[in-house]
Parts: sequence; structure tokens; C-alpha cells
Amino acid sequence: MCGIIGYTGHLDALKVLLDGLEQLEYRGYDSAGIALLSGKNDDRLLIKKAGPVSTLKDACSTLNVEAHCGIGHTRWATHGGVNDTNAHPHIAGKVTLIHNGIIENYHNLIERFDFRGSLVSETDTEVAARVLDYYYEGDPYEAIEKTIREITGSYAFCIMFEDIPDQIFCVRNVSPMVAAHMEDGSFVASDVTAIIPYTNRYFVIPEYQIVTLKRDGIFVQDLDGNQVEPEILEVNWNVEAAKKNGYPHYMLKEIHEQPDALHNTITPRLRDGLPDFSDDGIPDQVFADCDQIAIVACGTAMYAGMVGKALMEPLLKIPVSVNIASEYRYESPLVDEKTLVIVISQSGETIDTLAALRLSKERGAKVLSVVNVKGSTIARESDYVFYTHAGPEIAVASTKAYMVQLSSLYLIGCRMAMVRGKFTEQEAAAFVDQLLSSIPAVEKILEHKSRIKTAAGVLSKAKDAFFVGRGLDYAFSLEGSLKLKEISYIHAEAYAAGELKHGTIALIEENTPVIAVATQDHIYGKTISNIREVRARGAFVILITKKGAEIPEGICDIHFEVPVSDDRFAVFPVAVILQLLAYYTSDLKGLNVDKPRNLAKSVTVE
Ligand code: F6R
Repeated sequence: MCGIIGYTGHLDALKVLLDGLEQLEYRGYDSAGIALLSGKNDDRLLIKKAGPVSTLKDACSTLNVEAHCGIGHTRWATHGGVNDTNAHPHIAGKVTLIHNGIIENYHNLIERFDFRGSLVSETDTEVAARVLDYYYEGDPYEAIEKTIREITGSYAFCIMFEDIPDQIFCVRNVSPMVAAHMEDGSFVASDVTAIIPYTNRYFVIPEYQIVTLKRDGIFVQDLDGNQVEPEILEVNWNVEAAKKNGYPHYMLKEIHEQPDALHNTITPRLRDGLPDFSDDGIPDQVFADCDQIAIVACGTAMYAGMVGKALMEPLLKIPVSVNIASEYRYESPLVDEKTLVIVISQSGETIDTLAALRLSKERGAKVLSVVNVKGSTIARESDYVFYTHAGPEIAVASTKAYMVQLSSLYLIGCRMAMVRGKFTEQEAAAFVDQLLSSIPAVEKILEHKSRIKTAAGVLSKAKDAFFVGRGLDYAFSLEGSLKLKEISYIHAEAYAAGELKHGTIALIEENTPVIAVATQDHIYGKTISNIREVRARGAFVILITKKGAEIPEGICDIHFEVPVSDDRFAVFPVAVILQLLAYYTSDLKGLNVDKPRNLAKSVTVE
């Protein structure tokens, strides 16, 4: 949802900004722009272009500037179409500004400040720049403070004032922004991926505090002018982790990183072979005190929650609900102080999930979040955090983050079962053994991925595809269908296999692909019957079962096996098959796998 970078120091600002924008492009790729201050004649230089960062780079390739201070932006359009004019930065008088977020009251501001007829773009951001310029009389702090008092909505602003060379001012509400200072100068960015080539030490810009980037340091002050000491964080991955490392796409690289991600997430939480969260600061009391669990998340993270529910409810024998955060926040959810709310988010910044978290806390629930990005807003606002250790996920389509979200829910489920007397230590240890054995199971799928590419060849010619399964298999199928549609643009739906005949089966024609997941022994026969129903109507069936399952003659066209002994753990290798199916389909169609159209990573708007 828009990427922001700002730099002041002794390096070539143009290069720093363009490199940073490339790292941040996964946050939005409708347009990109930069503004530089302190060029040769202290001029302000603005270049912005619709299209990806590469278009901006081309436009900058003939520039001959020596600038050491500037801001850059890559846009995911919300207000106003995709064109050069609506691209950021926006200039108003002495103000140059970039923004990530949404100014909700921008219509009122246009009326109140009488901007009608004089705005150049259709964006809410230009209105903010105009308000700031209106208030700017030489004191940036006063102008920023007055401006943010006028604005409602979410924002991360990076601002340069024409008459204050070499300095960048930042302020944010909800939308993420981090900053770092080192010998080379001072940096600000939407997330650490843009800063990591320079340092692994950074801080999260606190909300409603004004941050000033100067060459020799970064200064933070609250709205009353008091200096604030930010809390320095360290990322435990390096620049290599945010590169493709020889893979053609980030998505393929991240799919291959899953065994390590699982290992890094599971093993630090094991003591004597049993889950133990004392290092995470999560007391057992949290698991003992609740009488229901509400899982809240969006998209892939929510589908991880569906698997969590299918696992936990029968294990713990308490109600587990899975809630779409954007719905939950406007409903009247039945959560109270006896509810454990598990919030799942890779980025830790998804605004709907954050709002759901806040609502849950207001209602007295305890919130445990499963988050990948250290120091993110959701992590900071939760009562307890269970960090997944996937490392940076750059591809817009989530893969390794989903995998570690699953493993986290399995660990949480296991610990909870121990605490609530549903598991003996032996049972818990056996469960953990199975969880650990999912790592080689995932590796096995990766070793034999060429057959998955063949199956993708069929899918790549399809207009529609259906995923079917029952119970846990249905929960995995939901994610499989999301993955396929978001990167291959093939219409795909997941159905509980028994539900097809209540309507959807009308869509099955000769050669319609049906991806059938049948890994659960107790309902295997039932799923097979449902596959026969689509087969009879000409479906092209790709079947996924456990190794050694009895496959009726002629039931499928392509068959994949996953090496698992306990059905509950089939999701791990099955997820890899479904991810690779989507990946190869998208690639065979020649699509932009890592940056599918209309999407962006980290959805910080409603
Ligand atoms: C799809 C995908 C999204 C995210 C969703 C939530 O591949 O990545 O559906 O899962 O936008 O994002 P986080 O987990 O960052 O809250």
C-alpha cells in the first residue's frame, strides 16, 4: 500500500531513492516518483511517472544531478486514477510531500480551505500538501502540528520544505514508517527492506510524533515539542534475505525457503520436545483462562486461521471462530474477557486486522497476535506476540508466511491442549514430532516439483478452476484457490466437496479443472464420491492424497501424493503443491508473478 523512502546524507540521493523504491515496489506499482532537494542550485527536482519503478528509473537515467536529500514514493492508487499527475510526490508552494494512507476528510478540507478548482491532481494527498502549505510560515513543526489536527484518516507523510534544504520531516498515524541513522546519513522508509542494505538497526516512528531527518542525526519530538528517545530495534536478517538469490521470482524463492522458515519458527519454541512459550512472554494462564477462541485476520492469514480452527476445535473442545477482520470490526462480535483473540498478520500492519484487534481489546479480550514483522503496529498493540520467523516476504502472494502461521497455530494448539488437560506430555511430544516431520515432507515436494509444472500446463489454459475437499482439506483448498486466482487471474473457487452438488456443479463442463484434496482418512470415501460426481461431468481432476491411499481406477488425470502419516499435518506439503501449481500457472501465462495486477502487499487502507 504505497512505499515511502526518504534520505539525507552524503550519498547520491537519487541512487538511494531509486534502489529503495525497487525494494519497496511490492507495496504498490501503479506509479513512482522522486523529489530531490539541494541540487546544484538548491533547486527542487520532481520526476514522477505512471507505471513501475523501472519507468521512473528510465526517466531518471539521463539526469545529471548532485543531490543528497530527497524523497521517493511508489503508489498503489486509492484516490484518483493511475497517471503521472496523481503520482507522488505532490508539491504545494514550499511543500513537497509523499503519503501512504487515506485522508478520509479530504472532501471537507477542500471545502474548508476553498481549494476547489485549484487542485492539480485527484488525490487526497495533494489536499494534505495544500493544507500544510497553508499553515507553513517558516516553522515546520507548527505547520505539521496544525495540519495533522485537521486531518482524519491514516497517513505516513514525508515532507520537504523548499527553504529547509537537507532536512526531511515525517509524521504518521497508523500507516507504517521506520527510520534509521548511520554514518552514511539518515533514512526513512515504509519498512526495513529499503534500509537493510545500509543498517540492520532502526526504529519504528511513533504515532503522532514529528521526526526530523538531518545528515548528522534523527530527532524525534512529540506534539508538545518534547524530545523523545525512540526504541532501537534490530532485524535478524540481512540484505541477501531480501534478494532473489538466483531464483527467477521472489515467490519461488520464498516457496523454497519454507523448510527453513518452519524450522526457525518451531524449534526455538521447543523445550525437551514440548512447546514452551516462556521466551515469548506468553503465560499459560492465557490459555487456561479462556472459554472460546476468536481468530481474526484477512486473506491468506485468515485461511491459515481456518486450518487453525479445524485443528483446534476438536482438540480443545471449545468454540473457535474464524473472522474476516474487515467484517468483524463493523459487527458486534461476541467476544469478552473470557475470549482469546488470535490475530494473524504477516505484515502486522493490515488496517482491518488492526481495527479488529483494537475492538477486541475494548471488549476485554486478551489478544495474542501471530505476526512476522518485528515491531509492527499489530505486534506492539497486542497483549502477547508470537513472532513467526519467515524472514522478509517480498512476493505479493503470501507463501512462507502462511506456512509459518500454520505451524504457529499448531504449536499454540498443542500448548493449549497441554495446559487444558487435553494432551498428556506424551501426546504433546508425539504431536510435536509430527509437526517437525512436516519439514522433510515439504522438502520432498520441493524436490519433485517438475510434475507440478506439468499440471500447471493444463491449468494455464483454463478459464475457471475448482478446488474441493472436506474438513481440513477444505481449509487448505481455500488458500489454494486464492493463490491461483491472485497470480494467474484464473477464476477459482474452493468448495466443501459435499456442497458442490447444491449448485456449483452446474459449472463443471468437459475439461474444467478440479483440484481435489483428499488427505483425511475418515472422510476419504466421501470425497472420492464427490470427485466421481465431477468426473462424470467431464472434469479434469488433479487429485492430492496421502502416500499409499487407494486410488480408484480412472478417478483422476493427475495424482500427487504427500508423505504424511497423521492427517492433521497434511496441510504442510499440500500447501506447497498448491502454491507451486499457482506459481507455474502464472509463470506459464507470462504474468508478473511477484506483482500481480491491482494488488499490493501490506494493505493499510480499509
Ligand atoms: C494473499 C495475501 C493476502 C494477505 C492479507 C493479509 O497472498 O498475501 O491475502 O494475507 O492481505 O495480510 P497480512 O498477513 O499482512 O495481515
